[in-house]
Amino acid sequence: MTDVTMDKIVSLCRRRGFVFPSSEIYGGLGSTYDYGHYGVLMKNHIRSLWLRSMVQERDDIVAIDSAVILNPAVWEASGHVAGFSDPLIDCRTCKLRFRADRLEDGHCGRKPSKRPGEFSACDLTEPRQFNLMFETQVGAMEDAASSAYLRPETAQGIFINFKNVLQLARRKPPFGIAQTGKSFRNEITPGNFLFRVREFEQMEMEFFVPPAEAEQWYRYWIEQRYSWYTGLGVRESMLRVREHDESERSHYSSGTSDIEYLYPIGWQELEGVANRGDFDLTQHTRASGTKLEFVGQDGERYTPYVVEPAVSIERIFVAMLCDAYDEEVVGERERTVLRLHPKVAPVKAAVLPLIPRDEGMSSRARALFEELRRRHTVEFDDSGQIGRRYRRQDEIGTPWAFTTDEQTLEDETVTVRDRDSLSQERLPLAGVAAWLDDALSREWSSPKA
Ligand code: GAP
Repeated sequence: MTDVTMDKIVSLCRRRGFVFPSSEIYGGLGSTYDYGHYGVLMKNHIRSLWLRSMVQERDDIVAIDSAVILNPAVWEASGHVAGFSDPLIDCRTCKLRFRADRLEDGHCGRKPSKRPGEFSACDLTEPRQFNLMFETQVGAMEDAASSAYLRPETAQGIFINFKNVLQLARRKPPFGIAQTGKSFRNEITPGNFLFRVREFEQMEMEFFVPPAEAEQWYRYWIEQRYSWYTGLGVRESMLRVREHDESERSHYSSGTSDIEYLYPIGWQELEGVANRGDFDLTQHTRASGTKLEFVGQDGERYTPYVVEPAVSIERIFVAMLCDAYDEEVVGERERTVLRLHPKVAPVKAAVLPLIPRDEGMSSRARALFEELRRRHTVEFDDSGQIGRRYRRQDEIGTPWAFTTDEQTLEDETVTVRDRDSLSQERLPLAGVAAWLDDALSREWSSPKA
């Protein structure tokens, strides 16, 4: 069994252009990353698979895209100004900052083998609350009236649009509003690659339900979201649902469960599913004076409860890469392969002429590539030895490669090579597009399972 470490994932991401440290030519900016071509493709696939299952394939959820900078009153009402904070401890000796509730994960700045406070020279302050929201100024005046925040979650942009959606999309509970977009948190201890970063893309859905149905929908969404992961090939042995006890829950929640993944750093939250009750709609009703409630035709009137599945693309991205990463020896040579679900793989198929300078092989491969690219992200590669080209595709997780060779010139067929089994079969050139469509819609489970 391959030992999957975060270092191996980081190194593959860098080597193959998935993710780079940001601002590198200026010495970087701690725990900030830029996505390269394959990272962007994979992120796009994850986002569209989420939107597909949340919006496209359902009758009861609509989409929204709210602003990143909202009226600061939103964050007063939501409780973020007063309570969205972590307890922070400074060390006067090494000048590092630590989360008071995670000292056991910290490393002393002078003696990294020790925890903060364990080394004789450590001089820690008392814990104080540190608000995680990034503050900014709107407009030219730098006074208190112009200060605003970058959103720390996409959820509030949904709550404040509840009335618009209820009226204009003509919905009644149970119904949901889904949103994907960047959120920003000034995390005290970012780290573990993309797992905890200060700028990340959330995918959240707020599902508004009659209060009596909240518990049932909460269970339903835990099950749905768990199945979304297993349906995309994430191994069940690497996933679990962990229900929070009362002391762990946020101020607004009457029930929260984490879908956890066994990352190389241990079991950690991948996605949270929370029963937020009527907290948010009630708070915004009070603070704004606009009634955020459902009024039925028969005069029935209530504030819906909210069930919320919330996740970031970053956490899914890392979980799926870890789940897919594999090393094996084939014919005395080592290969690294990403056994990603074909729907998540950045590139769905590579088209390769066996001998690039052969005009017949090259022109047929190019024509096939032009045909396939209309429907899928595919790649044409005619540089270097064929074995190297296959290895490159294995490392970025491309499930299939179509190769034109001598036989293609005789009978207009190509070989299709399977990334996982390495089996090869022949297909008529004219049937490749339909074959690929079919292959992409087939069920897939991880060969690592
Ligand atoms: N609206 C509820 C909410 O934002 P949360 O548990 O704070 O709840 C939801 O965040 C999800 O966002 C998490 O389960 C995780 O997937 C992701 N997330 C939170 N903080 C993150 C960070 N600093 N870096 C990457 N992803 C993060």
